[in-house]
Amino acid sequence: MIRTIFWKNNTVVLIDQNALPIAEKYIACKSYKEVIFAIKDLTVRGAPAIGVAAAMGAALGALHLLPLPPKEFRQIFFAICDEIARARPTARNLFWALERMKKCFDHAKHASQRDIVKELVSEAKRICLEDIEINRQMGKYGSPLLVDGDNILTHCNAGALATAGYGTALGVIRAAHEQGKKMHVYVDETRPVLQGARLTAWELKKEKIPFTLITDNMAGFLMQQGKIDKIIVGADRIAANGDTANKIGTYSLAVLACAHHIPFYAAAPQSTIDVSLKTGAAIPIEERKSEEVTHFKGVRSAPEGIKVYNPAFDITPAKYIKAIITEKGILTKPYRVSIAQMHKGKKRS
Ligand code: MRU
Repeated sequence: MIRTIFWKNNTVVLIDQNALPIAEKYIACKSYKEVIFAIKDLTVRGAPAIGVAAAMGAALGALHLLPLPPKEFRQIFFAICDEIARARPTARNLFWALERMKKCFDHAKHASQRDIVKELVSEAKRICLEDIEINRQMGKYGSPLLVDGDNILTHCNAGALATAGYGTALGVIRAAHEQGKKMHVYVDETRPVLQGARLTAWELKKEKIPFTLITDNMAGFLMQQGKIDKIIVGADRIAANGDTANKIGTYSLAVLACAHHIPFYAAAPQSTIDVSLKTGAAIPIEERKSEEVTHFKGVRSAPEGIKVYNPAFDITPAKYIKAIITEKGILTKPYRVSIAQMHKGKKRS
């Protein structure tokens, strides 16, 4: 199994996703600041993996506050959580995980500082292990949507690398593959950072799931040629009405899928759903540095001194999404109702 992130000897160990697929190496973050840097520079990326990294980063931060007096211990821990929360703005899982860590702290507040830290480390490890289980559940609910002979298009990387393990959208494909279904995956390269070409292709190759890599601008032509049966993507944040933020380029795929009558699915855990936001218009969209567009691995591919716009995510309106696959079951339209029901603890499948 691919190990994306784990806690070892009071460090947060991450597979270096910037080094993949050329090198498979791990880095150990020794401080919460190093974890923030790793989130910002995409060493760890993908909404659920960012959430786990944030939780472990917070635990690491608390560990180094042990010598402080109680009042400062709490105050600075909460400030560290807020600092980690500023690492990236779109993935809901980042904020969800930090809220959970703050609650854990307050729950344990009458214990000794050493025991509070123990609790925080355990909570972060729990968030990590739960994520793998949640992804397997998503695979269980989502795999019946895929059948023998399907050609499935996916965008970005919503696999083991984007989570604590197994994956969301790729987890559903993985589960169907484990059931013996013979499918083929088209992988969008995913400009500008190439999460598809570098990471999804790496994972599928490792798993021996048949796939073909295409550039993003080929997807429409393949749909027109009848080469795509289904599209499945992950999500960074889903609003209460089902509008979904995911890697830039997802919206174009959803519109094309609609024009070609191809079912378009999103797979995401409940922790990605933000019921406090009525629609996708309220989801903050991260803008990243222009070098991601003008350069590749440090090599310039555009003229110097030009204007660049680099939004990292876009919003797919709920109307284009046939179903949202979650660990609690399959959500269908109207999402305002199915999401609210799930939030209240009523399962749907
Ligand atoms: O910028 P990234 O690589 O963090 O963006 C990741 C995505 O858009 C994924 O599709 C999303 O987080 C779902 S991951 C299970």
